[in-house]
Amino acid sequence: MTVRKCLFPAAGYGTRFLPATKAMPKEMLPIVNTPLIQYGVEEARAAGMVNIGMVTGRGKRALADHFDISYELEHQIKGSDKEGMLSGIRKLMEECVFSFTRQTEMKGLGHAILTGETLIGNEPFGVLLADDLCVGDKHDVMTQLVHVYERFGCSVVAVEEVPMDEVHKYGVIVADEIEPGLFEVRDMVEKPPRGEAPSNMAIIGRYVLTPDIFDIIRETPPGKNGEIQITDALKEQARRGRVLALRFSGRRFDCGSVDGFVEATNYFYERMRKKG
Ligand code: G1P
Repeated sequence: MTVRKCLFPAAGYGTRFLPATKAMPKEMLPIVNTPLIQYGVEEARAAGMVNIGMVTGRGKRALADHFDISYELEHQIKGSDKEGMLSGIRKLMEECVFSFTRQTEMKGLGHAILTGETLIGNEPFGVLLADDLCVGDKHDVMTQLVHVYERFGCSVVAVEEVPMDEVHKYGVIVADEIEPGLFEVRDMVEKPPRGEAPSNMAIIGRYVLTPDIFDIIRETPPGKNGEIQITDALKEQARRGRVLALRFSGRRFDCGSVDGFVEATNYFYERMRKKG
């Protein structure tokens, strides 16, 4: 069993980064010199996912352009020392196939994932939210999820313990630990109000989902903020069968927030300097 496809919901407005995101997708914001979306695709590729599907929206054409050839630019820098700076993205373009579809209305993450059904079909797939930038310890976080999927054959979400006063920003799980770091989900709540969270185990933007999730999303009524939530659909999938949660080993930067973005910038800058 392998997971060959990965979906990138990337239709959101990125209002926390205005004015930077007024005319530019938030997924194109760079950490040092690489846009968030490219880190995400590199992680998916490392997990064996070569079919990359993006759910974009209006004003997001730069995402498709980033994963296409720019003849004029490449001609311009051919033979110069700048050429090497494109080797990472060129490799991804050689190894992966990119498909795009648009979400025309912002109706939530569950709805965005359902919009991507046309790019996925009837097979297991990864979901990667590029503004959660992850650095795995031994393996990338998506690879860690695939390893769990390969053993159990059910949907798997990545979780992290977060401070209680931040839990309201996340989907939260209630679960039984079945082996160190691996949990069977009993309940899930999307962004519980302050003081009402059932745990501090927060879902972060990495999922491997089995395709029955699409039918479940279709039946999922709007939840938190009137949006169709993947958390609610996963709760139903757990009720019908099984959903696992992995406390991943590694580090996550919430690049959807200015603080997390700056932390990630410092981290990757140091890493780049060490590599020389
Ligand atoms: C989404 C999910 C939430 C999850 C989070 C991870 O929320 O709805 O369950 O915890 O991603 O980043 P968003 O951050 O898009 O509001």
